[in-house]
Amino acid sequence: MLLESRVDTSSTVPFDRVAQTYDSTRDLPAEVMTPIIDCMQDMLVGCATMLDVGVGTGRFALPLGEKGLQVIGVDISVPMMQKAKSKGLRDLVRGDARILPFQNHKFDAVLLVHLLHLVDDWIRIVHEVGRASSKLVMAVISTPWGNPIRHDYLKLREEMGRPLKRLNQAEKDLSLLVPPNQIRHAIEHYLNEERRDCNRISRSGRLRNIMGPTQGPSPENYRKTEIEVWSERLFQ
Ligand SMILES: C[S@@+](CC[C@H](N)C(=O)[O-])C[C@H]1O[C@@H](n2cnc3c(N)ncnc32)[C@H](O)[C@@H]1O
Repeated sequence: MLLESRVDTSSTVPFDRVAQTYDSTRDLPAEVMTPIIDCMQDMLVGCATMLDVGVGTGRFALPLGEKGLQVIGVDISVPMMQKAKSKGLRDLVRGDARILPFQNHKFDAVLLVHLLHLVDDWIRIVHEVGRASSKLVMAVISTPWGNPIRHDYLKLREEMGRPLKRLNQAEKDLSLLVPPNQIRHAIEHYLNEERRDCNRISRSGRLRNIMGPTQGPSPENYRKTEIEVWSERLFQ
């Protein structure tokens, strides 16, 4: 089902035009994705329903649904959700994260991944996810965040006297403002030349190659992914 609700596409970054290519730039190999999803599942014990806000192409909603969770996706972009639908995601609602079309505390859990940096008035999203959840709000946070081009872009805007009024590092900045109740480490890895994940760091600290040509470990291609959970009504 693809339902519609009132949306305001102003002051938000449109994803319609990248819907067909989004997965090729963001998909992670199973060796990286599996520990992330397993970690999320562990932290969702006691939750049966989840709202994925800014569900996009269903990168997280699909595997979490396969784990038995009832996941509903909401997004402002129809093409992004059409892609999710073509991959098998059924419950999708077109809606604006700043005015979520759901009753208070409708879902056990609400998920936020790579959304807050896209919207000027991100604080409204924070209030809305707190309102829609009854148990917890979850975020997937990778460090370091973003890429050098974004860093240069933000710097240039500052120099031009037009700084971006958003959370520059998405949900990571939120966790710095409002400390989460739980943080769990999911995986550490390095990216290869195409910036696709290739080397996983094992618990003993050793590198294990998982795909593609290896690029030597350096601060630029290092990634750590953590799952963060706010489990009190911190946002209201
Ligand atoms: C970077 S993508 C992340 C998608 C998915 N969470 C993931 O991690 O792959 C951001 C998504 O948020 C959606 N989005 C942007 N602004 C939104 C808003 N105001 N309300 C709902 N969704 C929005 C975009 O259409 C896009 O699908």
